[in-house]
Amino acid sequence: MGKSTKPIVVSGIRSTGHLHLGNYLGALRNFVAMQETYQCYFFIADLHSLTTHPTPDHLQDSVRDILAEYLAAGLDIEQCALYVQSDIQETIELYLYLNMNAYLGELERCTSFKEKVRQNPNNVNAGLLTYPTLMAADILIHRADLVPVGKDQEQHLEMARTFAERFNRLYQTDLFTSPQAYQSDKPLVKIPGLDGNGKMGKSEGNAIYLADTPDQIRKKVMKAVSDIGPSTIGQPKSEPVQNLFTIMEQVSSHDTLAHFEDLYNRCEIRYGDMKKQLAEDLVTFLAPLREKIEMYRNDERYLRDVARIGAEKAHVSATETLKRVREIVGIRSLF
Ligand code: AMP
Ligand code: TRP
Repeated sequence: MGKSTKPIVVSGIRSTGHLHLGNYLGALRNFVAMQETYQCYFFIADLHSLTTHPTPDHLQDSVRDILAEYLAAGLDIEQCALYVQSDIQETIELYLYLNMNAYLGELERCTSFKEKVRQNPNNVNAGLLTYPTLMAADILIHRADLVPVGKDQEQHLEMARTFAERFNRLYQTDLFTSPQAYQSDKPLVKIPGLDGNGKMGKSEGNAIYLADTPDQIRKKVMKAVSDIGPSTIGQPKSEPVQNLFTIMEQVSSHDTLAHFEDLYNRCEIRYGDMKKQLAEDLVTFLAPLREKIEMYRNDERYLRDVARIGAEKAHVSATETLKRVREIVGIRSLF
């Protein structure tokens, strides 16, 4: 896949554990919708996950899990390039060149870096500091036009633009385009947690995973935080209760949602009943995904083929970009 007329899209998800309902509804489902319209490069960011030092076995498993989950969600290897970040070594070399013009001050000011320093003062490694340059390299290696990411990644994307523009200015070239955040016409959904927390997340321990069994789903939903129930007609919902409704809105039928809204408004709701219904609807919603995840996950040979085909596709544009970058920077072999 060389530079075509279709806008180029790049996005990745770090390999730090299974994907959850929030990843699916907030990110993966959009990736799937984009494959037809754009020239898409989707990858598993295994190098980025090294900043937190996973064990080699865990990292390997995680890459396979996420690859299976990407495929189960509907990414089609005929339509997009689906690959593992570390298979494209050109990215790593571009990361080095970009680092030469990434300044300590701007890297230190990055919110996610400051957050990591605060959470883990004993592991402030240079990989963490230069996380945004590696992400910029992922994007710029394909000279992406659009990057679908959540709000939390917007600052990183802004930095990718800064690095692209700085490189162009410094070397008086127009090699890099300025990658923009992809805005879907549908509003971005934010899936809340089951613990009353505003966001479902891997590290929050409040997630429903795409690979969860029906029993795991039922247990998690039945334990979800609610409240003592409304006592006056039309009482606004508390955050934990609103969260249950928000998830229901995504996975249950319109009638089911209307039914429980009505019970709530009449102060007749029994959260136990609502949770039972929500659990069953989640089980039904996730069943086809879970089946496919299992099928792909058990087929190591297919996963290997997928990764190889994806890497071959991604290599085409990565080699072309890197060749030009080397010429521009003045890195030429003498032999
Ligand atoms: P993360 O799991 O935080 O690395 O996020 C990977 C992708 O999933 C990003 O595009 C996020 O915006 C999206 N995502 C993660 N959690 C949620 C959530 N609770 N609701 C909606 N989207 C989410
Ligand atoms: N940093 C992103 C995250 O944590 C993952 C990522 C790595 C990415 N490289 C990227 C996303 C390039 C979009 C484009 O979610």
